[in-house]
Amino acid sequence: MARRRQLYEGKAKILFEGPEPGTLVQYFKDDATAFNSQKKGTITGKGVLNNRISEYFMLRLGEIGVPTHFIRRLNMREQLIREVEIIPLEVVVRNVAAGSLATRLGIQEGTRLPRSIIEYYYKNDALQDPMVSEEHITAFGWAGTADIDDIVQLTLRVNDFLTGLLLGVGITLVDFKLEFGRLYENDEMRIVLADEISPDNCRLWDSKTGEKMDKDRFRRDLGRVEEGYQEVARRLGILPEAGVRDLKGPETVQ
Ligand code: TMP
Repeated sequence: MARRRQLYEGKAKILFEGPEPGTLVQYFKDDATAFNSQKKGTITGKGVLNNRISEYFMLRLGEIGVPTHFIRRLNMREQLIREVEIIPLEVVVRNVAAGSLATRLGIQEGTRLPRSIIEYYYKNDALQDPMVSEEHITAFGWAGTADIDDIVQLTLRVNDFLTGLLLGVGITLVDFKLEFGRLYENDEMRIVLADEISPDNCRLWDSKTGEKMDKDRFRRDLGRVEEGYQEVARRLGILPEAGVRDLKGPETVQ
């Protein structure tokens, strides 16, 4: 196979030119960073698991009518996606106080919030993704009010659906981050869910024990990081066929 042209390398993923115009290949790495890359590491098999977990969530969301960039999984570490114009926002939804919200507002981690809260962060590594309001988003033209309406509606649907789906397998969806993109088709623009949904960008706690099964195991040096990601995949019924031995390979041909 011809070597694909790399278009972008992020902290956990690489984007390559896709086989057809308007498509990209999204490659999931095992690299992990936290605190705006101050902490760096590798989580063995993470890319394989996140590829599967994100595929699973995007497919289920597609089935209930949430538009996403996902087309299909290609292999262990790659998926084919639609090329979208990424809106430079990290949209965070919180159901239970944790992480930066718990710190910022002095709320005990684990406290259920009175209702789901949406926050926006401006996607800009150099500025360490500062929190912004709708005022900043519209004033600086990152998205218009109609775009924000779409984003909020989609975000709340994703939250409701994933909360239920995960609760069914004994996992509490504490909070998560979404990214959206603009998809241009036949002179029309639609906002679609982009990036990934995985334990890298969700907080997932065992509903009974409260045990963390997400990237906080890495951020906070809790140990058994790989096991957290595997347990999420196992509960969703999507561990690679051969089980965890499969996670290191085969490496993809690019
Ligand atoms: P926070 O509590 O650190 O603000 O994180 C909220 C949620 O957003 C949590 O599920 C992790 C996710 N997240 C990302 O996906 N990327 C990021 O850069 C940050 C800071 C958080």
